[in-house]
Amino acid sequence: MAKSTLFERLFRKKTIAQIQQDLDVGEHGSLVKTLTLLDLTCFGIAAVIGAGIFSTIGTASFDGGPAISILFVITGFACLFSALCYAEFASTIPVSGSAYTYSFTAFGELIAWLIGWNLLMEYSIGNSVLAFAWSEYFMNLVDGMQTWLAGYGMNFKIPEWLYHDHFSCSRAPAEMAKILREGGVPSESLKKLVEVWEGAPQFMGTRFLIDVPALMINFIITTLVILGIQESKMVSNAMVFLKLGVILLIVVVGVNYVQPKNWSPFAPNGLEGVFKGIAAVFFAYIGFDAISTTAEECRNAQRDIPRATLLTLVLCTVIYIILAFVLTGMVSYTELNVQDPLAFVFSKYGVQSMVGIVSLSAVVATASVFLVFQLGQPRIFMSMARDGLLPKKFAEVHPRFKTPAFSSLITGLMVALPTIFFSAQFVTDLAAIGTLFAFMLVSAGILVVGRGNNTDHDGYRRGFCVPYINGRWLIPVCFAIYTVLLPGLPANHFFFGSWWTPEGFHYDRIPYLVFYAVFAGLTVASIRFQWSAIPVLGIAVNLYLIAGLGAENWARFGIWCIIGLLVYGFYSYHHSALRDR
Ligand code: ALA
Repeated sequence: MAKSTLFERLFRKKTIAQIQQDLDVGEHGSLVKTLTLLDLTCFGIAAVIGAGIFSTIGTASFDGGPAISILFVITGFACLFSALCYAEFASTIPVSGSAYTYSFTAFGELIAWLIGWNLLMEYSIGNSVLAFAWSEYFMNLVDGMQTWLAGYGMNFKIPEWLYHDHFSCSRAPAEMAKILREGGVPSESLKKLVEVWEGAPQFMGTRFLIDVPALMINFIITTLVILGIQESKMVSNAMVFLKLGVILLIVVVGVNYVQPKNWSPFAPNGLEGVFKGIAAVFFAYIGFDAISTTAEECRNAQRDIPRATLLTLVLCTVIYIILAFVLTGMVSYTELNVQDPLAFVFSKYGVQSMVGIVSLSAVVATASVFLVFQLGQPRIFMSMARDGLLPKKFAEVHPRFKTPAFSSLITGLMVALPTIFFSAQFVTDLAAIGTLFAFMLVSAGILVVGRGNNTDHDGYRRGFCVPYINGRWLIPVCFAIYTVLLPGLPANHFFFGSWWTPEGFHYDRIPYLVFYAVFAGLTVASIRFQWSAIPVLGIAVNLYLIAGLGAENWARFGIWCIIGLLVYGFYSYHHSALRDR
């Protein structure tokens, strides 16, 4: 038998028949098919509405102003293209493992590994974002309780250094000094961080701060996941109705406090300010892809997954746009640089009952997303371990709890470490870039194995297909429009002219240049091969959003991928189950 080349080994693919065979011999074959369209939609909303809208939208509104609502529309569209691609894969390959499994059939092992490695960012790093948000809202409740107890003469105060992260506080004094030097006015939240930093105890010359509630929620949920307490259908549905009910309440009560003058100026920091919120806004949408991981448990995956995915996206987009308008209408965007914006706007007007309700539901909402993600990550670890790309221990099921206890424990650690060492903003950016990368490759995967290609060769019945729209005309038109608009877009989009500015080299132009080059390539290929427009737009829009995350995040992401490739080179490549096939 001829020996395979290194290239062939790196890009060895799994066929759908092989995946089906693995499924038939594995424990996943016994999953019960009970989920209906309503369950799937509730599951989608359970996974989507969380820290994004309850927390990270605050900073995004501060940077972009009321125009942030436009970013919700653009991001909703970006997600729609990817959602359709996810739906096609999920109904063709109805197994857990999500984007990781899909890319194994489309691109082979190396890319599948990279996707799996990046899903770590979506689920584990994403959960660090949720942990920070949970902490903020939880402390709002504790604060309320402290005030209530003080009324009865019981005074206790939790030291602030026990619920703030080291990373943001340590940077606050320098940030404040810079603003003062430039004659600006530091925000209240920045002043607060400086105060917390200065009040923190010192050990061996360094100040000690730790976000204990953020670690606590991680500990509780990891323990639940290990013990086998799964988010049952009923609890999940109940949480969704609670979230939706509270959001409705926020809108109905909040509208009374809206002052239209707050919507002007609409985009105070221009497009650049709006795009600063990309990570936060995109984070708010992450989770609809989790619907596809339940494919093995659906009554009719081929019909219901695409419908549930689209329903989730449309509902969430409408909710987000309305909330963005209410939020930015109630107070000036300049005051929204807080981690608990929805509670904050009501506290500004002294509506304490709403502060309590919003904080309580935010605690529930973020905990439910946390739970979904904390259940999802070990499943992806399991799929990778079953393929030999991770040690077998990751696929082990605990004999007593019947859960992937080891994978869940590692997931808990992967969430805790960034929570200790980084800030909410830092982890939000990382989670966004990792997820966008996965979405982009899933869209690209549809181009490779989608309609018109030969995935049916092993006789597997195909379900939902991304509607085919010939990209021959549409993509060049989009490319031409973008090119014409280019000179009017923010400076980092436009790569002609000098790359040197008074502040130094224009690094942030590099991602947009890469985007432009890829878009040009996609345009030529679409004309030549009549590529399907939806996956092509999926690649383009996701890459555009990735470009908006800036050169610094690209560098961090690059380092993360290099570490992943090293792990692959030293371990996974040699242990791959496909070696023996
Ligand atoms: N979309 C999820 C949230 O906002 C991750 O919490």
